[in-house]
This record gives sequence, structure tokens and C-alpha cells, in this order.
Amino acid sequence: MRYVQIVFSPTGGTLKTANAVTEEWSGSVETVDLTDPNNDFSKYSFDSEDIALIAVPSYGGRVPGTAAERLKKLKGSGVRCTLLCVYGNRAYDDTLVEMEDIAKECGFDVRAAIAAVAEHSIARRYAAGRPDGEDIKKLKEFSKAALNKLRDGNNSTELKLAGNRPYKKASGAGLVPKADKNCVKCGICAQKCPVKAISPEDIGAADAKKCISCMRCINVCPHSARDVSKAMVSAVSLVLKKSCSQRKECELFV
Ligand SMILES: Cc1cc2nc3c(=O)[nH]c(=O)nc-3n(C[C@H](O)[C@H](O)[C@H](O)COP(=O)(O)O)c2cc1C
Repeated sequence: MRYVQIVFSPTGGTLKTANAVTEEWSGSVETVDLTDPNNDFSKYSFDSEDIALIAVPSYGGRVPGTAAERLKKLKGSGVRCTLLCVYGNRAYDDTLVEMEDIAKECGFDVRAAIAAVAEHSIARRYAAGRPDGEDIKKLKEFSKAALNKLRDGNNSTELKLAGNRPYKKASGAGLVPKADKNCVKCGICAQKCPVKAISPEDIGAADAKKCISCMRCINVCPHSARDVSKAMVSAVSLVLKKSCSQRKECELFV
């Protein structure tokens, strides 16, 4: 029996939250990194005795398209799993129901789901510092309850997740990071981009057609030399002010 966490986490909030959940599992946990554009996800094989966590951030209330494409390549083989959707304190809308549909389509046996909050990776003033101590405590409690559901031999109860089908329309953030004068062309951003949107030969700008606005390149730059337009981020922050300002709590569905 293996413990596996399957995670898409461009800026680390989803991974931090996933780790809080899987640290409660007694055993070493293997990570499948869905941000790796060079990985062949169809090569993974699981055993029905394995236990999995599938974790993605919410982008516009949906599963990020890249994560969805890569998840669909996995063969679930009846593996019992918990879903974890991480969002920036606005809303996760239809992300969890979409995750449930994808996971079931791949053959996973979905037993539990968690929605959790982490710092908003675009408008970073929202949910700053989350997951915090209170979140981690709650996530560990949720993890134990979900694990009981995962270990239970029969799965008679249907999960009632928040969200709607058909899902809301997917929309991109349209924010494409660029390098500034501090860029030394080290190429780390190009290496770490989940969708190969930055050419190592032309580090300056990302390919707007490929870029998913995940903010990974800004996050990994050792020289703080990449950013998106500050005016755009201010405008996004203003739009989000009403929906993001009030603290939202993590939720468990079993
Ligand atoms: C393109 C994009 C779209 C996002 N859309 C939402 C959203 O609809 N609702 C929300 O609350 N947070 C949203 N966020 C915030 C992320 O869900 C949140 O910051 C998450 O923790 C990012 O995960 P990561 O740190 O693993 O990359 C969005 C972030 C990005 C980059």
C-alpha cells in the first residue's frame, strides 16, 4: 500500500495545505507533481489498496486547465482518495465538483473532500499568511476524519459537494509576467514554468498564448526580477475587495 499526493501548486500554497493533510497519514508520502511539463502522467500505476490526495488551486472557480489535462492522464485503478481544493479567500465555485468528475472519470474512488484557503497568488494582500496555525489545526482534524472514510471498506454515501454542474465558464486572468532590469537571464523561470511559456532564448516575456498566469515565474525568481503590471494587480485587488476581505474557513465534506 502506498500513500500518494497528486498536486498542482505553482506558488506553493496548495502544496503547503496538502502537506498539512498528508502529514497525518502514518507512512511516507510520494508526490506526483502536476506542474512538471516534462512528466508523462500516463506512466503512473496505482494499486486499489493505495490512498491518495488530489490537490489543486481554484482558478476562476474552476480546476486550472493544465491540471485538468494532466489529471485526466492518470489511471485511478479504484484508489480511494480525498480531494483538496485551495482558493484565495474569494470562492472556489465549481472547482470541487469538477475535481470529483475528473477523479471519478479516471477511476479514483472519491471518499472525501476539503476546501481550504491559502494566500491569493495574484492579489497577495488577500488571505496573506494562510494557511495559518488555525487552518493547519483544522486541516489535521479534517485529515483524520477523511482518512477514516478512506479506510472504510464500503463507500455507500454519495458526497454532497458545494458547486454546480454545468460548471461556470472558465476564464483566464490575462496577466502575463515580464522580466525587468534586474533579470540576469539565469533561466530558472523558464525551467520552472509549468507550461513552457518562457523561452530560454528570450527570457524577457512569456508567451501570452501559453501563459496561465499562475505566478510561478515571479515566485521562483531569485532576483525578484519578474512581475505583472502593478496597475493590473491593483485593479484586480479592487474588484476582489468585497468578496475576499472577510475570512473564510476550511470546509470538510465526508
Ligand atoms: C489565475 C488564477 C485564478 C485564481 N482564481 C481564484 C478564484 O477564482 N477564487 C479564489 O478564491 N482564488 C483564486 N486564485 C487564488 C488561488 O486559488 C490561491 O492563491 C491558491 O492558493 C494558489 O495556489 P498555489 O499557491 O498552489 O499556486 C486564483 C489564482 C490564480 C493564479
